[in-house]
Amino acid sequence: MAETHAPKSYYVSTPIYYVNDAPHLGHAYTTVAGDVLTRWHRQRGEDTWYLTGTDEHGQKVMRTAQANGVGPQEWCDRLVESEWKPLWEHLDIANDDFIRTTEARHTARVQEFVQDLYDKGEIYKGGYTGPYCVGCEEYKVPGELLDGENGEKLCPVHKRPVEILEEENYFFRLSEYGPKLLEFYEANPGFVQPESARNEVVNFVRHGLQDLSVSRSTFDWGVKVPWDDRHVIYVWIDALLNYATAAGYGSDQDKFERTFPADVHLVGKDILRFHAIIWPAMLMAQGLPLPGRVVANGWLMVGGEKMSKSNLTGIKPQDLTAHFGVDAYRWYFLRAIAFGQDGAFSWEDFSVRYTSELANDYGNLASRVTAMVGKYFDGALPGATGEGAAEEALRAVLEKTVAEADRKIGDELDFQGGILTVFGFIKHVNGYITEQEPWKVAKDESAEGRARLATILYTSAESLRAIAVLLNPVMPGSSQKVWESLGAEEHLGPLAQQRIQNAGEWGKLPEGATVTKGMGLFPRLVD
Ligand code: MSP
Repeated sequence: MAETHAPKSYYVSTPIYYVNDAPHLGHAYTTVAGDVLTRWHRQRGEDTWYLTGTDEHGQKVMRTAQANGVGPQEWCDRLVESEWKPLWEHLDIANDDFIRTTEARHTARVQEFVQDLYDKGEIYKGGYTGPYCVGCEEYKVPGELLDGENGEKLCPVHKRPVEILEEENYFFRLSEYGPKLLEFYEANPGFVQPESARNEVVNFVRHGLQDLSVSRSTFDWGVKVPWDDRHVIYVWIDALLNYATAAGYGSDQDKFERTFPADVHLVGKDILRFHAIIWPAMLMAQGLPLPGRVVANGWLMVGGEKMSKSNLTGIKPQDLTAHFGVDAYRWYFLRAIAFGQDGAFSWEDFSVRYTSELANDYGNLASRVTAMVGKYFDGALPGATGEGAAEEALRAVLEKTVAEADRKIGDELDFQGGILTVFGFIKHVNGYITEQEPWKVAKDESAEGRARLATILYTSAESLRAIAVLLNPVMPGSSQKVWESLGAEEHLGPLAQQRIQNAGEWGKLPEGATVTKGMGLFPRLVD
């Protein structure tokens, strides 16, 4: 019998976050984006795998723990359990795994990976002196440093003085991978996105790569170098390997083959080089397959600077969800900022968009359609008879909407564009209802009048069904409410199993479905 292989899962990752503090809006931004992308593919009917986690080794975490008077492991345990995991749950993030780099399932495999490279001669012992930024956990190229007021050199990302590190370390022969990487970028033009990020990476590699120091001996909060336990493995080598260890590298070959490599690594633009240069080189050195894409998102900014632990707005994700709700939160950042560009959060902007787009456009549509089915047909969805030009036009817009949103969100990661496409359709449906004036048609009690009213309401309810499916990856809570108020589950099954690509197929809701006026989807904001 021929062997059958399960298809490879569509695998999306977030960066694993440093646990030097609680997650902030910037971290949640990437994690929500990844969740929307994965849910979208799940609703395409694909097998998916969504990974997030925490990066717990290195000086940055160690120093924070020290400053708080606890050991680093205790510090990480505390923060992961009290802050990180609960926030992702609160934001409805449906990750399939959560990897912590201090877990044995990770550290043991990291040691094997590095040992293997050492045995192959890809890692050698050498010395290095250079400017190091603990914020980035990275040696800096002298040319990229900024001048501080007192002549000191500053990290261009953190604007804090770099430290001169002099170490005898183990080095990975990264310099040898330049030509192979350039060839790879050439053959895979979509590997790094957006285009500006790709150009940055290609230029950097063209200038020539230096070998990479992959161990540290001045502190011990890390995974021990297996052949020399005076050293720990450089935190970035340790961290990047999470994408392999969580996927079963070295422990579950079946899972690894089904999952690895990632289709999309979502990263902030500050950690692009690690993912687009070092990570592929590490994989090349082991003969492992390379990821599909590395997609860099922009930063959420505060006062012209990247939002970070030290310059938070003082606003936590939970403050915003308490005011606007979880769904609106998930929607807002993807809607307001073009993915890949920087953006600023503003309370006013959020409030304005919430009221006009969520409450007025979407929320009102849902409540008036379900209310009219209640009022004119006792909550039993009437069947459509004799559709005319207006209905046909609306259906044509819906078909286009589904194809466009699917391409934008599912393929291009243009979340803003895809959301706008769906909300454009919402406007169309609202326009259709306004033009058809069902409340006037309802006054005509003739058979013809009833039939016309039935057609208008069926058309509106079907449109709403499609909208609930299309918005489910972005706003699962409100889509579920719409699904329930259309009585859809009973006839069509769970919302999460609805295929995106079939959302526009007409006539799914059967005549007679029980429609109820749901609770307000997006309640008016109270100050
Ligand atoms: N631990 C590394 C990543 C290792 S991945 C193998 C790290 N951690 S981090 O916590 O400092 O940052 C994680 C991610 O959060 C990065 O992609 C970074 O760009 C992102 N963000 C941190 N602040 C951000 C904003 N203000 N806005 C958007 N993203 C931001 O780097």
